[in-house]
Amino acid sequence: MRTLIKNIKSLLQVEKCPRPRVFGADMAHIDHIENAYLIVEDDKIAAFGKMDELKEQTFDKEVDATGRMVLPSFCDSHTHLVYAGSREIEYIDKIRGLSYDEIAKRGGGILNSAKRVQEASGQQLYDDAMARLDTIIRYGTGAVEIKSGYGMTPEAELKMLRVIRRLRENSPLTIKSTLLGAHGIPMEYRGHQEKFVDLVIERMIPQAAEEGLADYIDVFCDEGFFTVEDTERMLEAGARYGMRPKIHANEMACSGGIQCAVKYNALSCDHLEYTGDAEIQCLLGSETMPTVLPGAAFFLNMQHAPVRKMMEAGLGVAMASDYNPGSSPSGNMQLVLSFACVNYRMLPEEAINATTINSGYAMGVSDQLGSIAVGKRANFYITTEIPTYEYLPYAYGENKVWKAFLNGKEY
Ligand code: NIG
Ligand code: FE
Repeated sequence: MRTLIKNIKSLLQVEKCPRPRVFGADMAHIDHIENAYLIVEDDKIAAFGKMDELKEQTFDKEVDATGRMVLPSFCDSHTHLVYAGSREIEYIDKIRGLSYDEIAKRGGGILNSAKRVQEASGQQLYDDAMARLDTIIRYGTGAVEIKSGYGMTPEAELKMLRVIRRLRENSPLTIKSTLLGAHGIPMEYRGHQEKFVDLVIERMIPQAAEEGLADYIDVFCDEGFFTVEDTERMLEAGARYGMRPKIHANEMACSGGIQCAVKYNALSCDHLEYTGDAEIQCLLGSETMPTVLPGAAFFLNMQHAPVRKMMEAGLGVAMASDYNPGSSPSGNMQLVLSFACVNYRMLPEEAINATTINSGYAMGVSDQLGSIAVGKRANFYITTEIPTYEYLPYAYGENKVWKAFLNGKEY
């Protein structure tokens, strides 16, 4: 099957020599071709270039993109989109002034979702999550990482991971799965949380590994949640089964989570509202992608991670949605683009790099996704008719995706 997308006003984020990620000043640059074509063969990008250099040939399908732009699909490297029910009542408590921490301490927050996930059937979780996946496809996402973490018992964590496996088998999205056994501390383990850490190490990690259910391991390593010591124990256990870390760190405090991520060669460390010079120095030269979650900072009205300082120091930065019922009930990566520009003062080019190639790196798929390059998977979207690419973050709230292509097929 050969498809031609022709008369593209601007083909963005093209790469002749694909890179795994981009750093520092390079983040402010994206390559694009005006009046371009893109050729897809089966599920791969076969060629691209300027329209006036397109040779006569036949195609099974042609799409005229006059007035429209083409971008690689977003890679959303951090979500918790398998969950049951919603938590808008708690959100009202937040509006009334209760902090995230206070809500968690009352047994709300993550524990509230855990109770509902424990009670839900695998089928219900699957159906709800599949509907969310269909929505994010329409908003331009082409790859998504999904975490467990609302199970809190070995049984419920495995139920979540099996749901993620079914989603991966049946959705056209590229999906990576992460075991987040240590997301919150169940009530019965309060005061002796090392026992819960034992449960993660002795039951959750080996069982998930035995069924091949987790690509990565995550821990909520932060003040009031799991300590660096707890985290190190779990990451070492995960490493014995080949699970690379992607951890939640420094959302509540400068808690040592970033240093811990680098020490264990994590693929990413995420949130990072509390990041100082020592943390930035530690990340420099590492293989760990700092990942910021603007939707959560927006929704929880938190201080913002020092993204400009990170980029000025030479770091690459990724951004993801954190789609979850408690701190970011949206998986809309176009909104993440707008938040990146408005709240973090990123340039549109920086925001595009953060949500495509760098977030692709942060979930281990940038060799296949995150840019328009020959041989990469044909996951991209055609925009509505827009004047410039800067219009994408600027016109926040409206869906600028006209057609989404995944694995070379239109959705
Ligand atoms: O990434 N920070 C920890 N975990 C989630 C929140 C989960 C919840 O509140 O349900 C997050 O924001
Ligand atoms: Fe998260």
